Amino acid sequence: MTDAVRARGLASLRALLDPARLDREPDDSAGYLDLLGGSPGDGAGQPRTPAQRAMQSSLVAAVYQRGWRNGLNLAMGLSGPSADEERRGAVRALELDGEQRVLDVACGPGNFTHVFAGALRGDGLAVGLDASAPMLARAVAEHVVPRVAYLRADGRRMPFPDASFDAVCCYAALYLVPEPFTVLVEMLRVLAPGGRIALMTSYRGSWEPQRAARTVLGWASGMRMFDRDELTGVLRASGLVDIHQQLSGVVQFVNGRRPLS
Ligand SMILES: C[S@@+](CC[C@H](N)C(=O)[O-])C[C@H]1O[C@@H](n2cnc3c(N)ncnc32)[C@H](O)[C@@H]1O
Repeated sequence: MTDAVRARGLASLRALLDPARLDREPDDSAGYLDLLGGSPGDGAGQPRTPAQRAMQSSLVAAVYQRGWRNGLNLAMGLSGPSADEERRGAVRALELDGEQRVLDVACGPGNFTHVFAGALRGDGLAVGLDASAPMLARAVAEHVVPRVAYLRADGRRMPFPDASFDAVCCYAALYLVPEPFTVLVEMLRVLAPGGRIALMTSYRGSWEPQRAARTVLGWASGMRMFDRDELTGVLRASGLVDIHQQLSGVVQFVNGRRPLS
């Protein structure tokens, strides 16, 4: 994609930032807006589990979409949708089809973000936010399309005003983040009235032996296992409606809508 397309996306993203929430001047020299600076690793200063460390590796970033993500799904027992179907499912869950602003939290190499951008029209914009420089370097190399822009920031402190997005998504990341509920509360803060949220994360299960096995899996990998009502409960408590949950092996998909008033 041309430099002009990338520059247009970055200009639209800059216009969305809340100056009062910026600790530093955004740096766009790597093709994404960087708010975390040149510090090594994720720059977000969060504790590192083995899975977290992998996300900072250029090698993992390079193979992520071609192998790692599918392998991750298989390891998690997701016998359901293929990668393409999962992305289409996210577009449907977010009801994307117009000039919406979409935020893809923990976007990795932009493997969902560019699909979201493709579903938009006119002044629509899909923003991919991630803390990992290697992941965002892949996103810029492979998934810059019209109506997309990438941002290096911490999902626990998003640089946007309240209610600035019509759709907010976080797939395959809440189980990695040490403070997932801080990220979720931030996602809900930036979700506008009428907007939709879609999440995909881990599920501990309901059968006791299964729960025990998945708890051990979680300890070994550093991935948090969520109980059935943990995420839906937060959505409900923050006033969301039309909450839908699909359980699939060790994975759960959750979506919902913020009412207009
Ligand atoms: C497994 S990838 C998910 C990529 C993509 N969403 C998908 O479904 O394939 C998880 C991402 O979460 C990011 N991440 C972890 N903690 C984060 C934080 N505090 N803020 C932003 N991104 C974070 C990692 O850098 C990594 O790229």
